[in-house]
Amino acid sequence: MLASNLLRISVVLFLVGLGLGIGMGVAEDFTLAPAHAHLNLLGFVALFLAGLYYHSFPAAATGPLARIQAWLSVIGAVIFPIGIAAIRIGGQTYQPVVVVGSLVVLAGAALFAFIVFRNGA
Ligand code: HEM
Repeated sequence: MLASNLLRISVVLFLVGLGLGIGMGVAEDFTLAPAHAHLNLLGFVALFLAGLYYHSFPAAATGPLARIQAWLSVIGAVIFPIGIAAIRIGGQTYQPVVVVGSLVVLAGAALFAFIVFRNGA
């Protein structure tokens, strides 16, 4: 369930990230390139890989830690690119969004590393 949800969320974010990329190309305005890149990498690649990991190691997906890890990773993968986009459009006022987003991403990644080490590879 956790694995499937991560896989589903990742492909939805993938479509958004690709849409943003195509939108930039059509508009010939690449202001949001870093937001597009991080949405694709954190929102699609990282979440999809986590989904595949939990699918391959079902024992790792049980318990509250994995659920917290998944929530942190999803929230971070959305907030961080939004923060980057906000800075690119609106300026440094929006820096706190990026700071919070990056820390949430880091917390999710640290918890994922802990889960991977604890459950073996
Ligand atoms: C339909 C597919 C895609 C389109 C149309 C697209 C479009 C673009 C465009 C227009 C740029 C800006 C290029 C520039 O600044 O000159 C860009 C940058 C980038 N894209 Fe994509 N992209 C696509 C898929 C992906 C995917 C799947 C990933 C990663 C998983 C990705 C990662 C990146 C990265 C890392 C950059 C560089 C960002 C930067 O320089 O700040 N893109 N893409």
